[in-house]
Amino acid sequence: NEVLQKGLQYERPPMTFKNLDWEGLAKERLSANSFGYVAGSAGTAETNEKNRAAFKKWSIVPSRLVKADFPDLHVDLFGERYQFPIALAPVGVQRIFNPDGEVASAKAAAANGIVYTCSTAGSTSIEDVAKANGNGKRWYQLYWPKNEQNDITASLLSRAKAAGYNVLLVTLDTYILGWRPSDMDNGYNPFLRPDNIGVEIGFTDPVYRKHFEDKHGKTVDEDLATAAGEWASTVLPAKSHCWEDIKFLQENWDGPIVLKGIQTVADAKAAVEAGVQGIVVSNHGGRQQDGGAASLTMLPKIAEAVGDKIEIIFDSGIRCGADIVKALALGAKMVLIGRPYIYGLALGGESGVSHVIRSLLGDLDLTLHLSGIPSVDKKDLNVERLLYEEY
Ligand code: FNR
Repeated sequence: NEVLQKGLQYERPPMTFKNLDWEGLAKERLSANSFGYVAGSAGTAETNEKNRAAFKKWSIVPSRLVKADFPDLHVDLFGERYQFPIALAPVGVQRIFNPDGEVASAKAAAANGIVYTCSTAGSTSIEDVAKANGNGKRWYQLYWPKNEQNDITASLLSRAKAAGYNVLLVTLDTYILGWRPSDMDNGYNPFLRPDNIGVEIGFTDPVYRKHFEDKHGKTVDEDLATAAGEWASTVLPAKSHCWEDIKFLQENWDGPIVLKGIQTVADAKAAVEAGVQGIVVSNHGGRQQDGGAASLTMLPKIAEAVGDKIEIIFDSGIRCGADIVKALALGAKMVLIGRPYIYGLALGGESGVSHVIRSLLGDLDLTLHLSGIPSVDKKDLNVERLLYEEY
């Protein structure tokens, strides 16, 4: 509303309102390495392309003569009220896109009333992100060290808790990085950069530091390159955990736990069985496993099976307001935004991220309003009322 009312006086970085142009503009601004890292996908990018294509299979069919104000966008999730149904997805190493990195994104999220999710692969410490985020709502995303290093996991969780993160997202699809041709062509791994920009969270972890010192007889600061490599293989240990291991997280985290990366009904049911509070239906933006299904295609099947038993969050492929409407109608309560806000970060730092958030919210608001949908509550926003499957 504010954007509309203020019209051209809305202060923004030199960025367009054409969402689909953000990637191309970021490409002009970023180094080939950084751009390849954010825009790249696994393999032939089939999963990523399907993520996008799936949104077009569904069409929004509007209702007329609905007497309603601008829609109510708030959602109740995990016993809390959230102003809007979108959150910034966990994205690592943000300082490769802008020197302000995670600090800029966490500030923009707070300023616009949406959740910021801090990644274990961040280039800013858990505590500094929290400071930048201030009174904002923040979640912590765990890349889960192997069982022999449970003390590191426990340390990360206690730091996150102490710094005011209230929900834990556990990413299940990335125990090793996917086959990513762009990064391989560039010979680029941001976690191993000479200036070690990718591993701040590890470098600031007292338990990780102690392990390193015991093993090498020197401190992390004395050998940043080795420490960076070892941190990367600590949090991406190449081997998956199993369902029984969830118990450890439940014993070490006293808030909601959300499993990120669920793509099948069977796994969604297993998540319910394991007693976690939520799932993120996600394929990591098609960056991990190629040849996959569109994340959106799996969403209604999963929502039908477990939607009344567990909270469902969605990501992978969201680029505009209509995409958000479709994901919410198909059973998600909230969606995560990935690449688009990183393009905003690259183009305008904090104000670039703000521009992306505000564009998406404004677009969402109007799309719902013009569809005759008064709120994002399930009773108003559901597949029967709103969506038509074209083919
Ligand atoms: C990611 N993603 C991600 N996920 C996660 O759980 N931890 C992480 O550290 C990262 N890092 C990361 C870096 C970059 C550059 C990108 C683009 C993505 C995945 C992210 O949280 C989300 O699942 C996807 O980005 C969603 O897909 P879209 O919105 O990018 O299509």
